[in-house]
This record gives sequence, C-alpha cells and structure tokens, in this order.
Amino acid sequence: MSQLESKSQAWSALFDEPMSDLVKRYTASVSFDQRMWRADIQGSLAHAAMLARQGVIGAADEKAIREGLAQVAAEIESGAFEWKLDLEDVHLNIEARLTQLVGDAGKRLHTGRSRNDQVATDIRLWLRGEIDQAGELLVALQKSLLGVAEKNVDVVLPGFTHLQVAQPVSFGHHMLAYVEMFARDHERLQEVRRRVNQLPLGAAALAGTSYPLDREWVARELAMDGVCQNSLDAVSDRDFAIEFTAAAALCMVHVSRLAEELVIWMSQNFGFIRIADRFTTGSSIMPQKKNPDVPELARGKTGRVVGHLVGLLVLMKGQPLAYNKDNQEDKEPLFDTVDTLKDTLRIFAEMVEGLTVNPQAMEQAALRGYATATDLADYLVKKGIPFRDAHETVAHAVKAAVSHSCDLTELPLAVLQQFNGAIEKDVYDAMSLRGSMNARNTLGGTAPAQVRAQVERHRGRLGA
Ligand code: ARG
Repeated sequence: MSQLESKSQAWSALFDEPMSDLVKRYTASVSFDQRMWRADIQGSLAHAAMLARQGVIGAADEKAIREGLAQVAAEIESGAFEWKLDLEDVHLNIEARLTQLVGDAGKRLHTGRSRNDQVATDIRLWLRGEIDQAGELLVALQKSLLGVAEKNVDVVLPGFTHLQVAQPVSFGHHMLAYVEMFARDHERLQEVRRRVNQLPLGAAALAGTSYPLDREWVARELAMDGVCQNSLDAVSDRDFAIEFTAAAALCMVHVSRLAEELVIWMSQNFGFIRIADRFTTGSSIMPQKKNPDVPELARGKTGRVVGHLVGLLVLMKGQPLAYNKDNQEDKEPLFDTVDTLKDTLRIFAEMVEGLTVNPQAMEQAALRGYATATDLADYLVKKGIPFRDAHETVAHAVKAAVSHSCDLTELPLAVLQQFNGAIEKDVYDAMSLRGSMNARNTLGGTAPAQVRAQVERHRGRLGA
C-alpha cells in the first residue's frame, strides 16, 4: 500500500507511528473541501499537460493521467467515489484514486507541485466560478427591482430620515436606490475577480521548483488573468478570499437594509406593501399572523457573513510566511459565505418581483407626516424670504395644522396668509405631494421625469 492509500499507515518512512484517530479527524478537511473537486481536477489536467509539453513527464503518462482523471470525475459525479478521511483532503483523495487507476503515471502528477500551490489554485478556480454565479444573481435582483421601480414611478412614498416622515419620494426612486447599491456590489465583485483569477501553481511548497515549468502556459490554459509573481506570497496569502468575503458582506448589508424596510413596510402600522405568501410563514399560536421570515432571515444571515469576514481576517492576522495549516480554516467560512450570498440573492430576486404596493397607504402616511413642509418653505424663499425665516414660519404653520389635526394643504388660505402675507393660492400646488415630488427635478432627484430617465439608463446598462 502506498503512502497515499491510507494514513492508517505512517505518513512516510520518516514517521515512527501513525496518526491517532482524533488527530486524523482534527486535521482532515475532506468532509468540506471535496466540493472543490472540479477545480482540483481542472488544475491537475493543466499541470499534467504542461509537464508533458515541457518534457518533464512522457506523453503516455500525460494521457494516462488525463484518462484517469476523467474516470475519477465520473465517479465523483455519480456518487460512486469513496471519500476517505484517512486521505485528509480533496487533493490526496483524488490523487490516490488516480494512482490506483493508472499506476505510476498517477504518482508523476505531483512533480513540481505541492498541495500548498495546489490548494491555493483550487480555491481561486472554484471561487472564480462562484463569483460569476453571484454576479448573475445580482443582475437578476437588479432587474426585479427595476421592474418594480418602473411600475411605481408615480407612486408617492413618504421618504424618511431618522425613520420620521421627511419628504415625498417616488417609490420607484426608492427602489432604484437599491439598484445603485447592487450595481456597485456587482462592480466590486468584478474587481475582486481579477485578483482572485491569478495562478499560484508553480510556486510549489513555497520557493518555486527546479523543474522547467511554464506557468504562463498553465495560466492561459486555465483562463486565468495572470500568474502570482512571488512563490511565498502565492501559497500563503488568502487576501483574495477575504476581499471576496468583504464584498459579499457589504452586499449582504445592502440586502439587510432592504429586508428591514420590507419588514417595516409590511407591518400593520404601515401597510405599504405585501410580499407573496410563499415568502411568509404563519404562527403556531396566532392565526392572524403572516410573518416576514424571509426578509428577517436575510437580516440575520447578514450577521453570519460579517462574522465570516472577521473570522478570515483574524485567521490571516500574524501568520508568518509562507503556508501554514491555519489556512485550511479558510474554507468553511468562505463556502458558507458563497452559499448564503447566492441563496439570499436568488430568493430576493424572486420575492421583489412579486411585491405589491398600496399607494393609498403610502400617500396617507406622507400626508400625516407633513412631508411637504419643506416645499412651503421653498415657496416662501421664492417670494424673497430668507430661508431661515421661511423655516421658522413653516414651523408655525405645521403647529397650526397639528392643532387642527389636518394637513398643511387643508389650512385655508386666510390662515396661511396670517403666517406670511406673500402666500397666494398657488401655494397649494407647491404643497401637494406630487407638486413636491415633481419639483425635485435635478439629476438624481425624485421627480418622475428623473426617475424614468434612470430606469432607462439601468435598462441600457443591464441589457434589460
Ligand atoms: N488541506 C490543505 C489546506 O486546505 C491543503 C494544503 C496542505 N498543505 C500542507 N502542507 N499540509 O490548506
């Protein structure tokens, strides 16, 4: 039995005793790193092809490796592959099976390579694919938001600051704020992808290798953007995984803000929106309940991803060059970040699409909150009154409206004129919700004309 077949045997002739079962379990990663098997095989195929091109191994060995790895892939795919804890990780498992299948050729695969550059390569290849999928989901979510935005450009929502009614805004405008956030998240992921997509292979254990490897060729073969230029750095840093998790955490933070708004808006006190029943759950005791479990969980899972970011940062902190086994701990937080992010984006894209809005409830809330008080002040400024004085005048007018339990627009002209003689009949237009919204017609403002222009811009950008 070769060393690779079982570590019930000692690692090599150098070891006097085998690993204890506890140590074996403690040090093994195969239970979770097996999900990188495709990347591992992909990397091995490129490495073997390059070894043959460079004359390091023979063409027959390369062919045997290629065919053997195809069979290993088929076995893993079908579930027939037997993952062995004894073989520690995905790399040793695959290599051992390959060797079982093709003999000595399999043993030649690891020439000029170490698990240190191998694992770094695998994570990068795997993560690159996941980033692409997350990117597609981010586009889908933006499209869902865009659809809701377009349908609701003219719907008036009370915009909030401090969660107090501030000024009327288009509900479409509000949705587009999230499109902006997710567009930046997408951009961030693309930037991270460029740094993820660099080839460590060829760095070997830490110092490079004495075989005449062609690393540039392998990078091209694996569609990577470049080659890691320092072998010590290549095998030891996981900053690319940390950056990705940072970008994912930020994206989750954006999701959590939307989630929180959905929770608030669908509460009975607001009643602004409804989400489809399939995204809510009932209560086991209170028959009237429809709970926003999906947005709440997304809010909660944000904490989990932020935790992974902190975990990875601390994992890396203070590690001396080059590879340390600490780095095996990078995988679970990274994998969970990817899973959580993708699931959350997928479910939000669907949920947002099925959102229904209650424009009356939104308008009433805007009116109750004197959302157009600023417009009265602006009106007075246009009449030549200094803004600070206008602000004070409007405070008196709001106080009067509060004491009459009415909106500003319900105060008779004569009453308004007591606050300032310059006020005329056209003030009612200025103080209406739509008048207020239409007036904010600067680039990036909430006037429906601006919002429609933004919808068009996003449609063009997303090809939607
Ligand atoms: N399973 C290991 C990891 O995830 C692979 C690299 C192990 N290298 C080593 N020298 N022990 O980091």
